[in-house]
Amino acid sequence: MSGPTQASLFLVVTIDPRPESVTAIRSICPDIANLLRAVGFRDTSVGLSCVMSFGSAAWDRVFGDPRPSELHPFREISGGSRHAVSTPGDVLFHIRATRTDFCFELATQILSALGDAVSVEDEVHAFSYFDNRDLLGFVDGTENPVDKEALDAVLVRDEDPAFECGSYVIVQKYLHDLAGWNALPTEVQERIIGRTKVTDIELDDAVKPTSAHNALNTIVENGVEKKIFRANGIFGRPGQGEFGTYFIGYARSPGTIEQMLENMFVGRPPGNYDRILDFSSAVTGTLFFAPAASFLDSVTPTGSAVANAVATPSQQDTSPKAGRARDGSLNIGSLKGESRDE
Ligand code: HEM
Repeated sequence: MSGPTQASLFLVVTIDPRPESVTAIRSICPDIANLLRAVGFRDTSVGLSCVMSFGSAAWDRVFGDPRPSELHPFREISGGSRHAVSTPGDVLFHIRATRTDFCFELATQILSALGDAVSVEDEVHAFSYFDNRDLLGFVDGTENPVDKEALDAVLVRDEDPAFECGSYVIVQKYLHDLAGWNALPTEVQERIIGRTKVTDIELDDAVKPTSAHNALNTIVENGVEKKIFRANGIFGRPGQGEFGTYFIGYARSPGTIEQMLENMFVGRPPGNYDRILDFSSAVTGTLFFAPAASFLDSVTPTGSAVANAVATPSQQDTSPKAGRARDGSLNIGSLKGESRDE
């Protein structure tokens, strides 16, 4: 997981009730690295990557105990007319590359391998919009943590040793009322986001409202700011009047993202909510856990429980480079096209 990339594909599937569907899912866990290598090797410069993650109910069904300590179904949040809805999703494939065709091909291969073991709940083909802007016209991603700060923000460590180097993932698909948003004067938009539109400079605290998006999403605990890593995608169909942001946030604890959602939807204090939500509705919302690549590699098709799938501490890379790929990207779920053991 690195900085902005031109193309991403978000594929959310549910697992069919038949027992053999679990075998199909377990089979693809170690196999996805092979699919990724096969597709990604056609041009390694496109940086094809895929993170596979699991919802709470799917985890129990596919792996059983032990389970990531903070994995639970996405909790709905409501504040006034604003709703962070919870929608179905057993497995999420988050695919990224600099070229759409590579994302498309990998998704095709994944779905062909899974066959009727899954139904697709949601499939969003996203793109990068000019200089990493969202459709509201603002640069998105500027304050993402980088390097060690990013790894500390997203990777589970010794708080849950069996799941070290995994990460929690929350996705939400937002649709925008772009006509309403574009009718606002730029200065008003800037106070909603908390940054300048053209130059992407953070507004001074003296003028930035406490309801600004970046103010509500700044969480400080014991003097330390709690960060998440976002890799939002832009999507839409102008002909259908559809303009959207696919939010995806990775964090070491889902609680950090949940607190941000509470601040946005309910408000901090309650009522002082995020005005982005006057022009944007969340139409999906799901929480997943992305285990480390060593975990996926060790899954067997018919293991009865998680026992043969959890990477023992000795299987996990606990060296300082753990969770770090050669290109400086995060190694969550850690599947990259070029090399199996990156
Ligand atoms: C409609 C959907 C959203 C849009 C269009 C959006 C857009 C933006 C923009 C333009 C920025 C400022 C630039 C930057 O630092 O990236 C930003 C910052 C941020 N957003 Fe969002 N965002 C959305 C949803 C969310 C959600 C759902 C969360 C968390 C639950 C979130 C968390 C954050 C965080 C943590 C920051 C950085 C704050 C800082 O440290 O300054 N965003 N977002």
